[in-house]
Amino acid sequence: MIEAKNIHKIYDRKAKQLHVLQGIDFHVSAGEMVAIVGPSGAGKSTLLHILGGLDKPDDGNVIFDNQDIYRLNNKQRARACNQDIGFIFQFYHLLPEFTALENVILPALVFQNLDNPESVKESGRNLLNRVGLQERMEHKPFELSGGEQQRVAIARALINDPKIIFCDEPTGNLDSASGQAIIDLLMALNEKNKQTIIVVTHDENIAQRAHRIVYLKDGQVV
Ligand SMILES: Nc1ncnc2c1ncn2[C@@H]1O[C@H](COP(=O)(O)OP(=O)(O)OP(=O)(O)O)[C@@H](O)[C@H]1O
Ligand SMILES: [Mg+2]
Repeated sequence: MIEAKNIHKIYDRKAKQLHVLQGIDFHVSAGEMVAIVGPSGAGKSTLLHILGGLDKPDDGNVIFDNQDIYRLNNKQRARACNQDIGFIFQFYHLLPEFTALENVILPALVFQNLDNPESVKESGRNLLNRVGLQERMEHKPFELSGGEQQRVAIARALINDPKIIFCDEPTGNLDSASGQAIIDLLMALNEKNKQTIIVVTHDENIAQRAHRIVYLKDGQVV
């Protein structure tokens, strides 16, 4: 489903260059659930953003659904990724002016003709129910706790029923009960809906349930 070939990422910091990813090769088949683990600063989020079409690598290719996504222009890439990729960011990136429900349905409004806005809203409400936020739909992000914002971000990643879901520390801000509910939700999406999942995590409970664990260290898969 997705293949990364020889990915390099270099951050330029005035005096010195930071070679964060040093030739990563990585592939995930349809239906797999893969955990990416490794120490803080190893480049896990950077790699996830590159795989998800959000950050151009300095070298290498990402092939998603037989398309070399960084050979597309920005608009083509956004279009290719919007429908098929769901992304749960480590720091949520909710839009502050919008309610929880509006944040969740936004990816369904982009690039689509709105024949039936009510059915999109209904899907958004169902997803917020599934993550336990039925009482918080009209709250704006600043009126939500960190864990609640994280769950809104999870619901938003699912609204387009993506083929592949990238999750960056999806339980990082949750207590163990809410965290367990999110793990169960991700497992159900993978097992019942056959959605492919790539999850960056420090949470042993998630890593143990993945089909495969990829360990990133010093910019390389080890
Ligand atoms: N925009 C940037 N400019 C310069 N350096 C950056 C930038 N983004 C990340 N870095 C550096 O790149 C390295 C990898 O960052 P990244 O966020 O990918 O790590 P991570 O493995 O996700 O860590 P964590 O587990 O703490 O989330 C870090 O050392 C970080 O300081
Ligand atoms: Mg990170």
